[in-house]
Amino acid sequence: MASNNPIAEDLIRRTAAYVPDMDFEGADRPSREKPWAKWLEAELGFRNHWYPTQASRNLANNGQLSVKLLGEDILMLRRGGRAFAIEDRCCHRGTRFSVRPICYTDDTITCWHHAFTFNLDDGRIRTLLNDPNSSLVGRRGIKSYPIREVKGVIFIFIGDIQPPPLEADVPSGFFDEDVAICVADPYVVNANWRLGSEGGYDPGHHFIHNWSKYAINARIPMTFGWTSKKEALLETCLYESTGKGPSGFTRIAAETNMAMSAIIPGRNGDSGTEVVLPIAAGQTQAEIEMLGASNYATKVGAWLPCSLTVDPWPFPGVVHNEYYVPRDANSHYYFQCGWAKVNSPEQAEQWTNGQLGQVRWKGPVADDFTVQDAEAREGIAKFYAEEDGWQQEQIAAFDIELLMWRVFAGDNCRGIQQKSHTQGLFKR
Ligand SMILES: [Fe+2]
Repeated sequence: MASNNPIAEDLIRRTAAYVPDMDFEGADRPSREKPWAKWLEAELGFRNHWYPTQASRNLANNGQLSVKLLGEDILMLRRGGRAFAIEDRCCHRGTRFSVRPICYTDDTITCWHHAFTFNLDDGRIRTLLNDPNSSLVGRRGIKSYPIREVKGVIFIFIGDIQPPPLEADVPSGFFDEDVAICVADPYVVNANWRLGSEGGYDPGHHFIHNWSKYAINARIPMTFGWTSKKEALLETCLYESTGKGPSGFTRIAAETNMAMSAIIPGRNGDSGTEVVLPIAAGQTQAEIEMLGASNYATKVGAWLPCSLTVDPWPFPGVVHNEYYVPRDANSHYYFQCGWAKVNSPEQAEQWTNGQLGQVRWKGPVADDFTVQDAEAREGIAKFYAEEDGWQQEQIAAFDIELLMWRVFAGDNCRGIQQKSHTQGLFKR
């Protein structure tokens, strides 16, 4: 099968044998180590990437916030207007600064336990208040995390390498000058981050959204799930790994089958029963087709290290962008933002801080539609955390896109977070 999508072709070749009903010429035979072994290892996330962490507005001047990223305890502070992120663990004996953060100056923090005092920007010991001549001064320290604030979002880099530009980990369009960002307060979802990363673009998951108030109110039937037309699988997911933006793929929805009615076959010669999505059942065929035409021309993208774009959603001109930021093995932060093209600084303000972003994105999407996604992730969390789900899952044909993503993500990540990193065994 020749294609102009060599990455997808390679991914199908490596995963087809693990999927039922998927004949693919030249497919690799199944091996004991699955081709998505790195994905299985990445319980705590991918190391050496940038992660969105908070809305700038939530970190007040002279304020601080504790956060756990990829299992690492981090203290974010704003002093003198500048944002910092430091290891929340004194190098002396492990005291958590966050219990009582003491900043006598705008560029230092003093441990409330034994008065070790550190630079906020590079983490080095500035002085010991009770032993200023200590030879530890300037030589030892804590980790200070690279931090960047762009368009009201605070990003933190978790890793040991010289951080690549933020643009390498944030989907393109975010930085465009005429794009304004509305940020929802992130919240904790009790499921491993990978279940978010798979669930956001999972072609089979749309069924859950038939219970989203937004879908009900807008009378949008969300189908029983998309299934890529087999002959078009190579055209469905367009992978990119250019080094400029994040690595990932976009799915072209036009190449999928969308079912709004289905048959439950009868047994013993009984005739089948047709089931129709409740929202679809209440509408004429013409009404549904009209909605279908306006609703499904969306492009869904999955990106490293942990984000999703839906372009446009829920309205033309608006891009929904969400991140499943690893917190620990059993939870992640659901970080969501809506992008809109704007024509003026006033419009940008209306979108970011005024009513526009609330009404056209945050209300229908972050406060409503995606609540079902978070629920769905928590619904499978126990299986994957405690019941050997990664080995026990029964893959169906449409799940091949999940397997392809797992392999691709493992191939293109910059590293894998280890438990030792959470214990402070990293480069400072
Ligand atoms: Fe969803």
